[in-house]
Amino acid sequence: MYEKSISSAVIKRLPRYYRYLGDLLENEVVRISSKELSEKMQVTASQIRQDLNNFGGFGQQGYGYNVEYLYNEIGKILGLDKQYNVIVIGAGNLGQAIANYPDFEKRGFIIRKLFDVNPRLIGMSIRGVDICDIDELEEYVKHNKVHIAALTLPKNKAAQIASDLVSWGVKGIWNFAPIDLRLPKDVRVETVHLSDTLMRLSYSLKEMEE
Ligand code: NAI
Repeated sequence: MYEKSISSAVIKRLPRYYRYLGDLLENEVVRISSKELSEKMQVTASQIRQDLNNFGGFGQQGYGYNVEYLYNEIGKILGLDKQYNVIVIGAGNLGQAIANYPDFEKRGFIIRKLFDVNPRLIGMSIRGVDICDIDELEEYVKHNKVHIAALTLPKNKAAQIASDLVSWGVKGIWNFAPIDLRLPKDVRVETVHLSDTLMRLSYSLKEMEE
């Protein structure tokens, strides 16, 4: 399959293509040339052609790209034609914000449960998703297919929970805790550090002032 040989740099850019194409679809745009797409996305047309050629192109000389087709194909490459069961560990500010955001579901990421240690939170529900006792986590994971666990709990608890989840069969970790997790190779981890992006912003503001 072509996915295997695609560089991670290209894969990193695909969600952005997907987002732009989704906007075009919403605006009922049927086709777009790489030049037009490049103007919208502020990347070169040759970059777009190169990226999309990784998957056999999808474009036709003189016609450009069929927006819906390209959107669907990129969705398939990203695995967005599937559904993922997601659980959230830590139902505080961030965990609740994630559960409150409806658009993950539209992309096929279904938040099934939140887990927490705080008795004041256990038994509540966020947008219809129950907050369960962390003591029920093992049983839940062993009896329900969990594709992705989001870690939104304190940093000093994240590594242990991650390794427990992995030992119970979870292969996808969406880590928000500010630590770098070391997990077996067959486990996929995506770490999100908002503060890293703020630090980069602070650097570029500083550069501009100097
Ligand atoms: P919070 O304090 O509002 O929520 C943390 C929740 O985790 C609490 O409800 C607490 O009861 C629960 N918890 C504690 N120990 C637990 C355990 N062993 N098992 C299950 N739940 C447990 O904190 P907030 O603001 O939601 O942040 C959560 C985590 O996300 C922190 O590690 C924080 O540093 C990180 N964070 C990361 C960001 C990022 O950009 N990656 C942005 C904001 C926060």
